Amino acid sequence: MLHSAPATAQQEKKHLFKGGLAGFALALLLALLFILLLAYTGAYDISASKDHSPFVRWAFSTTMRNSVSVRASDIEVPSRFTPEQVAAGARQYKSMCEHCHAGPGVQKQEWVKGMLPQPPHLVEAVTEWEPNEVFWLAKHGVRMSAMPAFGGTHEDTALWEITSFVMRLPGMTAEEYAALGAEPAESSK
Ligand code: HEC
Repeated sequence: MLHSAPATAQQEKKHLFKGGLAGFALALLLALLFILLLAYTGAYDISASKDHSPFVRWAFSTTMRNSVSVRASDIEVPSRFTPEQVAAGARQYKSMCEHCHAGPGVQKQEWVKGMLPQPPHLVEAVTEWEPNEVFWLAKHGVRMSAMPAFGGTHEDTALWEITSFVMRLPGMTAEEYAALGAEPAESSK
């Protein structure tokens, strides 16, 4: 009799645990079924002419933000960049990034307006990123968006040059932007 009360409580706990487990398995099964239905019936609209629902958009951008932060966290940023490196970065930016991300006094290309997600104006957007994160983004890109990975075609030194230039974009005048890297390339690749 003395032990009966704890035994019942334990049985109750076990019962609850089993019930919880069954509920969890059912929820997983339903989620899987939902994904399969979306994949096979064509019900999901993948067009780039219509944005995701606010929840999916939030989920993607929050995932992207945190994924980059975590992966870039142990990348060491070079302590300083020479004016030549910044100018080399400017040249690369103008040939590989400007048409999507614009620049001081320069608009994005017309066809970029059709992209989803929209490439942000880096002059403003870069203030929310650290240099190690910009380097990581340029090297690895963002899957399922138009942001390419440049790591397969460019050395880290070139990507750091681009990063050093990108970090200087906020506050840069159109004249400074036009002048940077306008002189013929000297070395640096
Ligand atoms: C074909 C278009 C395209 C080109 C070219 C491109 N990007 Fe991007 N970039 C994007 C898109 C789209 C995003 C937004 C990704 C997202 O939000 O999921 C992005 C995001 C970024 C971000 C993060 C900014 C933010 O707040 O979302 C950085 C930094 C960046 N790009 C740097 C670069 C650099 C540096 C280059 C050139 C070496 C470059 N990009 C070339 C399309 C492009």
